[in-house]
Amino acid sequence: MHNIDSQRIMVIDDNPAMQKVLRIHLESSGYIAQVAENGNHALKILKDGKFHPDCILLDIKMPDITGLQLLPMVKSGFPLVPVVMLTAQTDLETGLEAMRSGAFDFLTKPVRKDGLLETIKKALGYREILLENDRLTKENREYQQNLEKMVEERSGELMNAYKMLKETNLSTVRVLAETIEAKDPYTRGHCNRVRVLSRETAILLGMKEQTIESLEYSALLHDIGKIAIPINLLHKTGSLDPDERMKFEDHPGIGENILKVVDFFAPCLNIVRHHHERWDGLGYPDGIAGDSIELPTRIVQITDAFDAMTSNRPYREALPRESALKELYEGKGTQFNPDIVDVFIDKKVYLSIENLN
Ligand SMILES: [Fe+2]
Repeated sequence: MHNIDSQRIMVIDDNPAMQKVLRIHLESSGYIAQVAENGNHALKILKDGKFHPDCILLDIKMPDITGLQLLPMVKSGFPLVPVVMLTAQTDLETGLEAMRSGAFDFLTKPVRKDGLLETIKKALGYREILLENDRLTKENREYQQNLEKMVEERSGELMNAYKMLKETNLSTVRVLAETIEAKDPYTRGHCNRVRVLSRETAILLGMKEQTIESLEYSALLHDIGKIAIPINLLHKTGSLDPDERMKFEDHPGIGENILKVVDFFAPCLNIVRHHHERWDGLGYPDGIAGDSIELPTRIVQITDAFDAMTSNRPYREALPRESALKELYEGKGTQFNPDIVDVFIDKKVYLSIENLN
């Protein structure tokens, strides 16, 4: 609470007799009074900041700017200062109108000392509430801002943790993928290139980042089942006999079984199992066709085939890029989904692996 000595009342009235009476009443009761002779004088005092009123007594009937005109100006500049209007006994309606416009109360002339002091006391009590409310609002706003900052910081930390976890996952999966390549040196770098090509294609097809992430893991791991295929079979230079072919064609199913035990790899299972299916249904292991092949799987079928064709294999030299693209083009609608082949060729997806090791 303010000390009564420090409480300042501004009197805005054009009548010198009224100014004098009010000043005497106020000062004899311990208030500091400041008189303004008219609206402009009051505005000047307030604007200069030489007097900070805790309450304003405002005469309604004044020349130039009336009390009712001055009221909104004062309220907008000093919303925490209650304004008590002074009105003639015969003009109650104007006093009420002033209250509707934001005045705290009104006093009728002639003003009696006890009535004046009581109203001033109430107005100052109201000011205390306004000040307290304002303080709480500011405090609350500050608290909100701190909270937002804290949330922002925590979100940043979580994002970093998520990024690190993602990187760790990716490197773990890459290590796993390299175990296949260690066994089959002809495929060195193959899995990572299939990953990059698949990611590029998926971005062009507008796939969601989360789906793209699991597509990348799947691309790295699509041939994980090869770790169970005899090494002489993987390195064989001639064509495979029917028995050997059957064994080789087990690798998608074996890969699926290896990854099935870890929940994290659940989104990869379809791609690993079906990366050797064909659009026309003549692939393996299940012979599924067309729309039964999921979109990410269709992508890996194409990127895997392209990279296999452009890499050296035990049974043949790498094909030049143009020949491999021709093969993809000719496989549209039979081996491959036509739309994805078009994207792969038209958007030059194959350039994304040019600078990879
Ligand atoms: Fe494969």
